[in-house]
Amino acid sequence: MAFNIILLNFVAILLWTLPFTVFAQDTKKFIYNGFQEANLHLDGAATIHPNGLLQLTNFSKQLKAHVFHPDPLEFSSSSSLSFSTTWVFAINPEIQTFSGQGIAFVLSASLDFHHSLPGYDFGLFNRSSIGNFSNHIFAVELDTAQDVDFRDINSNHVGIDVNSLISDASASAAYYSDAESQNKSLNLLSAKPMQIWIDYHETSILIQVTMAPLGLPKPSRPLLTSHINLSEVVLSKTYVGFSSSTGSLASSHYLLGWSFTQGGQEAESLDLSKLPPLPHIRNRGKKLSVGSVIMLVILSVMVITSASSYYVKRRKKYEEVFEDWEQEYLLQRFSYKDLYNATKGFKEKELLGAGGFGKVYRGILPSSELEVAVKRVSHRSGQGVREFVAEIASLGKLRHRNLVQLLGYCRRKQELLLVYDYMPNLSLDKYLYDDGIMPNFSWHTRFRIIHGVASALLYLHEEWEQVVVHRDVKASNVLLDADMNARLGDFGLARLYDHGTNPQTTHVVGTVGYLAPELTRKGKATTATDVFSFGMLTLEIACGRSPISLQSGSNVETYLVDWVDECWRKEVIIEASYLRFERNCVAEELELVLKLGMLCCHPKPEARPSIRQAVHILNGDSVLPEMLPFDAKATHGDQTLFPVSSQATSAYCAHSSDSILEVGR
Ligand SMILES: *[C@@H]1O[C@H](CO)[C@@H](O)[C@H](O)[C@H]1NC(C)=O
Ligand SMILES: *[C@@H]1O[C@H](CO)[C@@H](O)[C@H](O)[C@H]1NC(C)=O
Ligand SMILES: *[C@@H]1O[C@H](CO)[C@@H](O)[C@H](O)[C@H]1NC(C)=O
Repeated sequence: MAFNIILLNFVAILLWTLPFTVFAQDTKKFIYNGFQEANLHLDGAATIHPNGLLQLTNFSKQLKAHVFHPDPLEFSSSSSLSFSTTWVFAINPEIQTFSGQGIAFVLSASLDFHHSLPGYDFGLFNRSSIGNFSNHIFAVELDTAQDVDFRDINSNHVGIDVNSLISDASASAAYYSDAESQNKSLNLLSAKPMQIWIDYHETSILIQVTMAPLGLPKPSRPLLTSHINLSEVVLSKTYVGFSSSTGSLASSHYLLGWSFTQGGQEAESLDLSKLPPLPHIRNRGKKLSVGSVIMLVILSVMVITSASSYYVKRRKKYEEVFEDWEQEYLLQRFSYKDLYNATKGFKEKELLGAGGFGKVYRGILPSSELEVAVKRVSHRSGQGVREFVAEIASLGKLRHRNLVQLLGYCRRKQELLLVYDYMPNLSLDKYLYDDGIMPNFSWHTRFRIIHGVASALLYLHEEWEQVVVHRDVKASNVLLDADMNARLGDFGLARLYDHGTNPQTTHVVGTVGYLAPELTRKGKATTATDVFSFGMLTLEIACGRSPISLQSGSNVETYLVDWVDECWRKEVIIEASYLRFERNCVAEELELVLKLGMLCCHPKPEARPSIRQAVHILNGDSVLPEMLPFDAKATHGDQTLFPVSSQATSAYCAHSSDSILEVGR
């Protein structure tokens, strides 16, 4: 009897599930209005909150997160490549204008992303796998960080990606307002929920991406369209889901709902009333009602009168300068009080170093717990400050993975505070000479650092919208992030001294040992003077010796270029560096770097390579020009390519005492 009932139940269940199973084999459809009961494959930082909110990443750095439908879908022409999907997301950045990478909707052959680098590339690729056809990855990215390597148009765009992050098509985030018949821009980092629709039609091989603020119906015009034959990209078994990552700056990336339909029909609409609420997010610029304004005024009057003496004292302590013109710059302004508290009142204990332009402190911002470096730059009041702030604001837009990110600033009387991303491994000069501190500061790391500095300079010199001359490239301005990647700091600061100082004295900004000879003669910093400093830094890193050192037991200064030149003349340039004994040292690389360093340090600016040429040489994309100290005379007429010692001393190291303001030691 019992057996019969079980059997009956079994048949009933079989009959009941049969149509769905058949349906699921060729096309698939699912909808999540909130993710409470979602059966999804999560990895990395992804988590589902009890209220159904799916959080991909939080404010921690270097996270990756993946969320996928657990089973692969059949994506072959015989079944269906057409699909339609819609989802609701929100991105809350740690800092208003800077953020993690963004979110990507992904079709992928595999769920194994452990090869991808956290902090880059949406957690999908690593630098060697990127662009590879064997990835079988298709993605629609919501990109909130501009990466020049991927020719990103800005830090607020939507892109269609095939096996790479160089988008096939991209557009600034926006939506078409049917009511107003015009495009309206969207800020992906607004922390507001937005909806996106992605439709792919197999026969027309057309992909359309449409977006709108949450609550609006799907606009009649898509934001992006592109022709892509997906059957040439994805495999027949393909996973569908999302990927996200945070870098040295983070964002909380959220998904509120997701609907997906395969087979040519439009994805089922989400029930917006069922979507989970977002956690309380700092309101920026939200308008207050009249009632609450009145309440606030009464309250503040009460507070001010009852504690006025205390307040006056505090105000003095946290006093800032704020002028109307500052509003036109988009750079984030921090309150002095926040920076004061972040650095525990600029305590000596939090001092990271005293750079050329002021002291640098470590701090933790009270609002976001973000670790930052705060640089206090003193300046003379009056002229120049406005130009300088303008310049700082434009420098704040620079983004490159080998630059220290400027996050914002604050102004006080005679003082400017610059807030930077914190670099846990401090600066390169701490590692170069003393092998004891960092046993695995290997040749490989050194080579990577040289390469990183060169990439940063290439960005400053040629890839950004205007030419930025760094003017103070040296070891103590190369900072190291958590992964020991080089990050060039202090760019553009030298200009403050141009704007703000007495015009009668021409100050050469820079550091002795790194100054190009023509710089001390003419006082004009150029990209070629940066290349000279880069060459000196390259020799320094490759040899583990400072540009100028004292011979042990005497007062005689020795110059690194002379030393390398001497070894080169003996036809064994690599003997200039003890690193040739290092286990992983590649002799060819060492030789290349030493010769490149010498070429960049050429006393004649026109003989130096551009930084782009230097990068090509480091990449092995072009070869070093044939040059030997011995035949220099022959190839350059009576102009020696590299001067002999006595000349080198004056040409390379240019210590003419009258013109150098020595900043940056
Ligand atoms: C963010 O998520 C990661 C991984 O789930 C976790 O280890 C970390 O503590 C979280 N950080 C914050 C700030 O909540
Ligand atoms: C990059 O990823 C590919 C697979 O996607 C892997 O084979 C390779 O080892 C990874 N490279 C590094 C340097 O992690
Ligand atoms: C897409 O590519 C496949 C395989 O290369 C080809 O058979 C098919 O005809 C292409 N579809 C269109 C619409 O071009």
